[in-house]
Amino acid sequence: MNDRTFIANQIATLRREVGRGTAINALSGGVDSAVVTVLAHRALGRQLKTIFVDNALMREGEPQLVVKTFQDLGIPVELVDARRQFLRALKGLTDPEEKRQAITDTFYRGVFGKAVKRARATFLLHGTILTDIEETVAGIKRQHNILAQLGINPQQAYGYKVLEPLATLRKDGVRRVAALLGLPASVTRRIPFPGPALATRIVGEVTPARLDIVRQATAIVEAELRRTGAFQYLAVLLNDRATGIRHGRREFGQIIVVRCIDSTDARQATVRELPWPTLRRLSRRITAIPGVNRCVYDLTPKPPATVEYL
Ligand code: XMP
Repeated sequence: MNDRTFIANQIATLRREVGRGTAINALSGGVDSAVVTVLAHRALGRQLKTIFVDNALMREGEPQLVVKTFQDLGIPVELVDARRQFLRALKGLTDPEEKRQAITDTFYRGVFGKAVKRARATFLLHGTILTDIEETVAGIKRQHNILAQLGINPQQAYGYKVLEPLATLRKDGVRRVAALLGLPASVTRRIPFPGPALATRIVGEVTPARLDIVRQATAIVEAELRRTGAFQYLAVLLNDRATGIRHGRREFGQIIVVRCIDSTDARQATVRELPWPTLRRLSRRITAIPGVNRCVYDLTPKPPATVEYL
């Protein structure tokens, strides 16, 4: 099936499935949820409600930027500030799966559940792609966004039916469809960013202070590596410390890992051999973040590593 047929089919399917009902979707700013939003907006118009949940785990300026991008496309997006709820749910948690679960629960049972009720929506649109399904079925990762595949009946558990229009596509297909739908390059060429956001890049407890560090490091990595054209680049805050020396004094500081990978669909990835001057600049800028005194470059392909750290 070509991409135009895919778009036409999905619009027709959404119209048929939703009928006179109301659908809701959450925009994350990533290309998957962006494509779902545009497809659903074309299919359903005012029967669609799109929200953006600020979960406190987003990158610098991201919530405002995402809302504005879609407003410019004529698609209204409601910004829901749920920062306190997510931070409260994550407090004290260090286990990766417990953290993911806390985010899932806060999102579905708390914030999104309420938004669904408020909108009286009976359909939830989700940007699940084929790779998400395969990796979840294979037990490689517990993706938070594929309830049905995990044996959770959303209608019973949460009172809505989940529709996944992108479930047959991989990332490269989603990007092609995004471009055809007229989404701006800032969205179509945007690097993948996981649903649980910066929480997947903080080993150990997620606190406002630790988020602040990884957010600053992320901004630096993205600014420095954007022009490499690599598939994905990111910063991770480790749950360990290292001794360093700053202004003649010893300090026990934070460690940031930089990762830059090439891939076509994130199922496998190789590490980009970055030029030494780029690495040196990254290290210099990242260790200028207060409290960070070490920057390391991750040399591990996928497999055996995953892209994210949780
Ligand atoms: P991993 O870490 O499993 O990541 O090698 C593969 C790709 O998926 C992204 N990723 C996620 N995306 N929800 C998402 O929407 C998630 O929970 C999630 N975990 C990882 C990751 O950024 C990479 O592109």
